[in-house]
Amino acid sequence: REKELAKLWQANVLARDFFHACLTKTSYGKPAREYLARRGISDEMITAFKLGFAPQAWDKLSTAFTERGIEAKVMLKAGLAVERTSGSGVFDRFRNRIIFPICDLRGRVAGFGGRVMDDSQPKYLNTPETPIFNKRNMLFGFDSAHKVIRQTGKAVVVEGYMDVITARIFGINNTVASLGTAFTVEQAKQLMRYTDEFIFAYDSDAAGQMATMRALAIVRNLGAAVKVISIPDGKDPDEFIAKHGAAAFQTLIDEAAPLLDYQVRQALQEIDYSNLEGKVAVVARVVPALAEADNAVEVNAYIARISQSLGIDESAIRSEVGKFLAQS
Ligand code: UTP
Ligand code: MN
Ligand code: MN
Ligand code: MN
Ligand code: MN
Repeated sequence: REKELAKLWQANVLARDFFHACLTKTSYGKPAREYLARRGISDEMITAFKLGFAPQAWDKLSTAFTERGIEAKVMLKAGLAVERTSGSGVFDRFRNRIIFPICDLRGRVAGFGGRVMDDSQPKYLNTPETPIFNKRNMLFGFDSAHKVIRQTGKAVVVEGYMDVITARIFGINNTVASLGTAFTVEQAKQLMRYTDEFIFAYDSDAAGQMATMRALAIVRNLGAAVKVISIPDGKDPDEFIAKHGAAAFQTLIDEAAPLLDYQVRQALQEIDYSNLEGKVAVVARVVPALAEADNAVEVNAYIARISQSLGIDESAIRSEVGKFLAQS
């Protein structure tokens, strides 16, 4: 069993080195190098993250592996190859994609993400679940960020590979990606070994905002402090940084809104409170957050703001908070 796992780790290291060499040392890697350059990814980052390129062929990796005596069984188990449906043998899973190795905390290569270089779908293809790759447990960039997360006392959580790498280019080094919008309890627990303050900077599209709310609930349940950045002008940190620079992103991080602030703003933004129904809905939405917040000064300030925005009495909101507390 141990031996089996060792083979998978080893296969992944070899695959990472293979993809990296394809990107950096071959003529057919040129479009991939150009793609990364267009997106502002420096050679330094290509080296630091050992980015790669999976060639446009069915069996480049499989053939190289076979030549090195690695069994098809291992390639399949590592998720690097896929079984042919007609005939026998395997073919490469990752083809004609930019490769992002995904490492565990100790820097071992657990799996890969692969991005197309055009608009075809799926945009990203990831290693499927394997004995060493469990997406729920993985955070992209964690191996190189955990020390800085401990030093700064903060973890910035973003959605994607590109967000992490773009932030790194500009020296923002406490950033990790949840590999999409689904932030998990497992990811939260791992981060909490290094910090008790999380800053979410998810994409500003609807999916990212929904995911932010779910992530907030998870983190709060575990007792960590959470702040939220809503990316203005641009849909994710990578775009924002490309447009406005790292200093502007660092300012967003430094001025990240506390949870309560974010929830109040979201409620006032999303709900039409011009009628009574809307006012009731806003209050219903913010009451749990108000009830859970433990700083009375803060809570008072938000109650004042909500009462002003809605044109209702502060005492009405207070009494709803009281009812909520009595119930829970
Ligand atoms: P995004 O669609 O926001 O991509 O997905 P991105 O990171 O901003 O990438 P660019 O800027 O378009 O290149 C965020 C993350 O969700 C995961 C990936 O980890 C991605 O980085 N994802 C997304 C997938 O796993 N599969 C997909 O098809 C899309
Ligand atoms: Mn702390
Ligand atoms: Mn997105
Ligand atoms: Mn994005
Ligand atoms: Mn992006």
